[in-house]
Amino acid sequence: MAEAPITKDIQRWPTQQLRGHRIEGWRYTNKEFARKEWEGMWTKVWLLLGRESELPKHGDWQMEEVGPEQILMVRQKDGSVKAFYNICQHRGNPLVTGEKGSVKRFVCKYHSWAFMPDGALNFAPDAEDFPEGNPCQNVRLEELRCETFAGFVWVNMDPNCVSLKEYLGPIWDDWSRWELHKWKRYVGLTTTLPCNWKVVLDNFNESYHVPTVHMGATIETNRRKVNGNINTNIYDTLFDLSNEGHNRMVMQGGFGVAQFEKDGTPKEPLKSLLAHWDIEPTLVRENPENGRKILQDAKRRVGQERGYTHYDNLPDEALTDAFHYTLFPNFAVSVWADGFHFLRARPHYNDPEQCVFDNWWYCSQPEGETHPVSTMVGPFPRDAENPHVVFKVGEVSMGKTIDEDIAVFVRQQTGFRSRGFKGVYLANQENRVRRYHELIDDYIEVRRP
Ligand code: FES
Ligand SMILES: [Fe+2]
Repeated sequence: MAEAPITKDIQRWPTQQLRGHRIEGWRYTNKEFARKEWEGMWTKVWLLLGRESELPKHGDWQMEEVGPEQILMVRQKDGSVKAFYNICQHRGNPLVTGEKGSVKRFVCKYHSWAFMPDGALNFAPDAEDFPEGNPCQNVRLEELRCETFAGFVWVNMDPNCVSLKEYLGPIWDDWSRWELHKWKRYVGLTTTLPCNWKVVLDNFNESYHVPTVHMGATIETNRRKVNGNINTNIYDTLFDLSNEGHNRMVMQGGFGVAQFEKDGTPKEPLKSLLAHWDIEPTLVRENPENGRKILQDAKRRVGQERGYTHYDNLPDEALTDAFHYTLFPNFAVSVWADGFHFLRARPHYNDPEQCVFDNWWYCSQPEGETHPVSTMVGPFPRDAENPHVVFKVGEVSMGKTIDEDIAVFVRQQTGFRSRGFKGVYLANQENRVRRYHELIDDYIEVRRP
């Protein structure tokens, strides 16, 4: 199927040595291991948390939870963003509730201590009554390391951490090309799943399951020929592991293969893509394997003048293919030419057999375009910025593909409880799963990169 090598213009990442240790079920169920992960890993890594566009003005705040922590991100007078633990330093009452808001001062609802957006304590009732001195001179909100990149707010609980740029390694340059800071969120679905957070990341760290779970492949299927909108053949797919622990997979997309109804009309997402770029469907239907090239050419030809300014930074492959990244430890994303499929698993505050799962979409939308042209499909209006919805698992569909993944997550967690499970047996194409687990152990054993 591949008409050209996928590696043109895509700089490969260095080769990694893997140790190949055993990954057993207790890693997904054991409370003591979860505690070690928290102390050794979660509190030492950069976490993608907020979005700059949620905080346009001085005093605007956004709050997100990770494990037992609530992290408050606040826009400063000078335009920067600071992050604090959402905790009043008087007696530990959380300062805010909810996802976002705007304040002149954060006023604690217990005894009215008032903190400025920069974390300084500005008022405490009866300030002269404190034997250790006026708290306004001695107390501030507890601050965390905070940086911004790609329009996101990133936070690290380790005061001695490396810079975000150093932590992200090759992700920094890769992602800069898409101009992601301009993209807007169109879908925000969040739920709690009855599985360990690593069940989710393991899944997004391999494409081995894709034919079985998402494409109806059976044991009779020739897997090298299962192609829908993306080419799942591992021999046409590019896999990379970075020194910093992040992973990348590039799968070719944009084909017309199996993307037409019997009557000749194209299926989604190809249908919307062809319409958006004024491509006659017969062009692709008659030569489905050329669909990728036809789409790339159309985007090159008119993308720039229609305001898709990032296309000039991207190699041809990125105009049609899925650039799938997993950022250690808990963030996975498929970056398409115009869609950023945001997948994140956050640990539960005290139960290793639960996690909080976010399935969001950000899309480019140049001025003058009436709706985003991502490959996003599912039960969401494509032309509106949908509100963030938090729900019980199963109450709302997260889209066909993610619903299929979730069904696997829930079943797999029950398998990890069994004494009959002897540990994973991984293929080369699952190296990213292995790498992740080895890195968790590196952090726990203080050997981190
Ligand atoms: S706990 Fe916040 S003012 Fe007392
Ligand atoms: Fe999947």
